[in-house]
Amino acid sequence: MRQRKMTFDGLVWARPSPIAHRGAQEFLVRDASHFLPCKDVNETNHLQRAYNLLLHPLRNIPSPKLWTCSQLPYTYHWIRGELTFVVHDLHKIYGDTVRLTPNRVAFAHPDAWQQIRENGKDPVWYHMSRLNILGADRKNHSRVLRTLASGFSAKAIQAQEGLLAGYVDLFISQLKKLAPATHDGGGGVVDLSAWLSFFAFDIIADLSFGESPFNCLANGVYHPWVYTWLAGGGGDGQKKIGLDQQLEYALAQVKKRLEDPDGLRDEKRKANGRDKVIAFIGAMTTTSNSNPREMTEHEIAANAMLLVTAGSETATTALACAVYYIASISQVQKRLAEEYMLAVLDEAMRRMPPVPRNMPRVVGAKGGDAICGWYLQYGTVLDIWPWAINHLENNFTKAYDFIPERWLDVDEFEGVRFNKDRYGASQPFSVGPRNCISKNLAYLEMRMVLARLVWNFDLELFGEEAKKFPDCKGYAVWIKRRLYIELKPVLRD
Ligand code: HEM
Repeated sequence: MRQRKMTFDGLVWARPSPIAHRGAQEFLVRDASHFLPCKDVNETNHLQRAYNLLLHPLRNIPSPKLWTCSQLPYTYHWIRGELTFVVHDLHKIYGDTVRLTPNRVAFAHPDAWQQIRENGKDPVWYHMSRLNILGADRKNHSRVLRTLASGFSAKAIQAQEGLLAGYVDLFISQLKKLAPATHDGGGGVVDLSAWLSFFAFDIIADLSFGESPFNCLANGVYHPWVYTWLAGGGGDGQKKIGLDQQLEYALAQVKKRLEDPDGLRDEKRKANGRDKVIAFIGAMTTTSNSNPREMTEHEIAANAMLLVTAGSETATTALACAVYYIASISQVQKRLAEEYMLAVLDEAMRRMPPVPRNMPRVVGAKGGDAICGWYLQYGTVLDIWPWAINHLENNFTKAYDFIPERWLDVDEFEGVRFNKDRYGASQPFSVGPRNCISKNLAYLEMRMVLARLVWNFDLELFGEEAKKFPDCKGYAVWIKRRLYIELKPVLRD
């Protein structure tokens, strides 16, 4: 396919198409080789397949026969963006522990989270992220975490609150233009999936690059940096779209910061209080004699890029899913008080875990490891598929229903009892030494924007596309459908 090009911010980018998000699948299929990381498994001959089935140390772990012999079923469903749903079906048939490929096992019991997360990340799957904190090995991870920590401290989050509030104001004022209040009520229809994404990307790009480079909210469109990243399936299918420009763009921002370290505290920023904001890029580039710079330019750019992506679509998914259910179930909208809002967000992240993929670990102990009662040899890949396990009745009563009350201190709601719910199964921010660095900032951002949204508007689903919102494909992020919501301004005294 010949790509159309456009110039933006001095770089040539692939041109956005009206079906931007659907591009991802095409590129994933073209890049299928990327999804066959079966270095450890020679499956080219029948003998090897027979070995995988009959003699392999994982042979006793329940699984469909084809999956135990070959990597192909796993890869096929992954490319189609449906693997998490298929793994869910496998757990229903085979139980909490299922062998997904010759050398890969998935778990659904809540105890697995902690036990698996003690192991190191799978270097094959995190290879593309090896320069940033997400994929760094243990030694490099400590170094990067140490450098970034000041950008995520309680003090930093307090200082960032004003910046968040500014973006919430801009978000609401843009929506008010699209859904104005008039004498006969007014309102309008808005794709909130896109607008929440504009909001989240603007905030995180500001904190990651140190200024507001994307201006998605102000312009009402995705910056090509965002568009190309989304069109690549959120990193996984990105080799062919935009990666070079994204990196070039990030490097230019980093160079700017390094050449002008005081830029984050200049007069213009002092005037609007932004000099107090501890930006992530500031944490990575600010140096002193006692605190020399510990990261190369490329590492800083790679981490800034990671932060933009890790901190944007995740929050967007949680918010969009919450909005979908708020707009679908009138009762939820009526009850949106502060405590209930947290429950709504937690239930939204259970129904649509913002990181839909497996985040695989590998058994690192030479002598193997025991997980959920199974002995697993050195090198076994360990998966948890969040959507798959969040929707098992063993873990959550009425698992396919949206019931925020299950997260409140009540035993029963409308005849449904939650005493058997295994809350630890839903871990949207992961657990253990590599869990999310930014859980507090994420909750703050989500609560602020959701509170202002429902304060200003009544929300109602609009059209057939919006009704299908939860039914989407999952890669590194969900390829979200459009979420058309009818916004009706609430007039308050
Ligand atoms: C609803 C919002 C969010 C969710 C559900 C979420 C979820 C996660 C998950 C599941 C991981 C573990 C990934 C793995 O094991 O490979 C993770 C890691 C990470 N997240 Fe988040 N995240 C959110 C928001 C954010 C934000 C706002 C930022 C930054 C601004 C951020 C930055 C990171 C970073 C840097 C890591 C890597 C931590 C490490 O390896 O030490 N996340 N996140």
